[in-house]
Amino acid sequence: MRIIIAQDYQELSDRASRIIVGLITEKPDAVLGLATGSTPIGLYQKLIEKYREKVLSFEKIKTFNLDEYYGLSPEHPQSYHYFMRKQLFDHVDIKPESINIPRGVGAEPEVLCQEYNEKLKTANIDLQVLGIGNNGHIGFNEPGTPFDRETFVVELAAETREANKRFFSSIDEVPRHAITMGIKNIMEAKKILLLASGVSKAPAIKRLIYGPISEEFPASVLKNHPDVTVILDREAASMIK
Ligand code: PGA
Repeated sequence: MRIIIAQDYQELSDRASRIIVGLITEKPDAVLGLATGSTPIGLYQKLIEKYREKVLSFEKIKTFNLDEYYGLSPEHPQSYHYFMRKQLFDHVDIKPESINIPRGVGAEPEVLCQEYNEKLKTANIDLQVLGIGNNGHIGFNEPGTPFDRETFVVELAAETREANKRFFSSIDEVPRHAITMGIKNIMEAKKILLLASGVSKAPAIKRLIYGPISEEFPASVLKNHPDVTVILDREAASMIK
C-alpha cells in the first residue's frame, strides 16, 4: 500500500482528485468505482470544479457504486442514489445510463444483489474509491464478512447504524439492511484509492497498517491487492509513525 499523508482534508481531496483526473486524462472511458459517506465529498467537489474548468469530461465515464440501503427508493434523501446525484452526477456530463448503483427497492433483496453482481462481472473497474468505517468496513462489508463474498444483503452492524444515524431523524429510521459489493468484487478493481479523514479514523488506520490480514477487520484484505493508494489527513494518520 502506498500511503500519502496530506496536511488537511482539502489537500486530501485535492490529491485524490489529481489521481482521478490523471486516470481520466489517460483513459477518457475509464470505469470508476465510487463511494458515498462524508469522506469523498471534497473529492467530488474538486472533480466538479475540474469539469467546470473543462479539464475533464464524464461523457464516456462509467461508474459503479459500492452500496445502497435496502428499502430506500432512489428519491429518498438518505439513499445513496440521491447522494450521488447531489454530490456529483447532477453537476457533470455523465450519461444516466452509465451510472450503476445497486437498487434498494423493486424486488427481493437477493434478486437485487444478483442483478448488480451480474453487472459487476463485466464492469472492469479501473479505480475503486473507498472510505473506511471505524470498524474497518469497506463498502458495507462488516467485520466477519468472508473475503470471497460477492454482492450480498448485509445486516448492518449496530455501530454502523449508530455512525450513520446523524443523517436520519432517529436511529429507528436507519435501514437495517443494505446491498453491498462484496470484498471479492472490490478486490477485482485494478486500482484502489482509500481515503480517511479525521481523528475518529485514526485507530482504524493504525489497525489497517499494523494489524494482521483478517476477516475481523475487512479493510485489511487490501494488503493483498497489488495497487492500493491510501490518502490520509494528518488527524487520520495521527496514530501511525
Ligand atoms: P464516512 O464513512 O466517509 O462517512 O466516514 C466511511 C464508511 O463508513 O465507509
